[in-house]
Amino acid sequence: MDLKGARSRKNHVHHLVLVPCPLQGHLTPMFHLANLLLSRGFAVTVIQIPSPSWRSLDCTHPNPSFPSLFFEPIADGVACDDDASNAGEDVMSFLLELNSKCREPFRDCLDRVASSAPRGCISCLIHDAVMYFPVDVVEDLSIPRLVLRTSTAANFLGLSLLDQKGFLPPQGTRLVEMLQELPSMRVKDLPLFDKCKQASTEEVLIKIHKGTTTASAIIWNTLTCLEQPSLDKISATLSVPIFPIGPLHRLSAEIMVTWAPENQKIEEGRTGYSAATDEVPRRWAEDRSCIEWLDLHPPGSVVYVSFGSLVTLSESELTEISEGLAESGRPFLWVIRARPVNSASLEAIRELTNTSKRGKITSWAPQREVLAHRSVGCFWTHSGWNSTLESMSEGVPMLCWSYVGDQRIISRLVSGVWKVGLELEVDDGIDSGPLNGSKVASAIKRIMSDEEGREMKRKAMALKEQIDVSLRQSGSSRQFLDKLVAFIHQLA
Ligand code: UDX
Repeated sequence: MDLKGARSRKNHVHHLVLVPCPLQGHLTPMFHLANLLLSRGFAVTVIQIPSPSWRSLDCTHPNPSFPSLFFEPIADGVACDDDASNAGEDVMSFLLELNSKCREPFRDCLDRVASSAPRGCISCLIHDAVMYFPVDVVEDLSIPRLVLRTSTAANFLGLSLLDQKGFLPPQGTRLVEMLQELPSMRVKDLPLFDKCKQASTEEVLIKIHKGTTTASAIIWNTLTCLEQPSLDKISATLSVPIFPIGPLHRLSAEIMVTWAPENQKIEEGRTGYSAATDEVPRRWAEDRSCIEWLDLHPPGSVVYVSFGSLVTLSESELTEISEGLAESGRPFLWVIRARPVNSASLEAIRELTNTSKRGKITSWAPQREVLAHRSVGCFWTHSGWNSTLESMSEGVPMLCWSYVGDQRIISRLVSGVWKVGLELEVDDGIDSGPLNGSKVASAIKRIMSDEEGREMKRKAMALKEQIDVSLRQSGSSRQFLDKLVAFIHQLA
């Protein structure tokens, strides 16, 4: 089918094609964006790259969990294995391979989407910045292309700095130098990917950057109240419209409550949005017993511990974490994903938890609900951007222990700029030393018992209020969503 010709046909419903990255921390924001676009009357097709996160997702239409979305598998036989050994340790090689596997089948996939009634011609394509394989294909077809950036604006500036400095891995005393271009940041806070192959890292980062800067617009899962200075800097250098409409999970939830699906039907048989506004594909089943367990505890008493979907812990880190939690004297809810952990050490931790009777270990928690629970007083996080936005949306102070990529900048923003958390610097020197249980216990005490922690909680509640304001009808994220919708309409 001639996609170019197809685009120019008159069609009262604009059809958008979304290309998510099939890793949990990227899939979730793209699905929230999909919900928002559906609520504004667009038809939406999501390109599916089969992965463990999407294993259970049935692509037939209507899908019971996502009745309004259409899904198109990229091709038979193209699947990604996002096991921690691949994606967690060397995420750059993983992305390089995934993008190159998807490039060829994508053109045929777009053809199938464009010729499938009743969706028809494609008004525009929106892809996750890390999935850059559609860039050349849609350029050839003259389909407008927008990018979704799932991390902070500061991270984008950090990546640009690395690019300017030739991606040289900084060493020695240079690591603790302050960056003039990014206030409060040191060289070692830049989004470095120490565990990734250098060549893959450079190639992937250059392609992501090019895909972003040549897009028709950038949709950003961030907010002006958090990142106005970084957004201003980016706007000053890029001639691309930017739409900061975060936190996407909150905006999607707010809008879904008021959206009347019966007014939004675009075709016969389309069933409207599911009542479950928080529905996203999940790799692991949520353990609902966490909430019952939290119900048993007094307000603000529990430490919630989770390091996202990719971080792999070593045996010694597991031991230090459990000892630190035991020494803190606080009840804790700790997410340990089943696969990366050796079963003997997990057994030892379970025993320690049972002995102390203060902890609960789970393999996957309903995190947003956990963070909204009154008994949670502190979130020990790896500073993934989704986790950070979810925590700030509920006014929960954080203990930040960053691992890789964007997480270092986010830790720094949380502790040094927004001041709603504490950075667990395992060593103040140049190289990070090993995690130490006693330092963990003392950091938890600072957040949960000291005046310093009470001040963090006050700041966290004030920030939550600012986020709530951004989501109101006249708030910045809501206004930018309106502008984004108008922008897409004028493209098509
Ligand atoms: C990765 C990167 O690490 C992160 O820095 C980047 O910004 C996005 O991609 P991830 O490590 O998985 O993501 O962390 P994060 O961004 O925090 O996303 C994790 C998601 O999983 C969150 O939405 C969180 O709510 C969810 N989660 C985590 C659960 O629902 N249950 C859990 O038990 C743990």
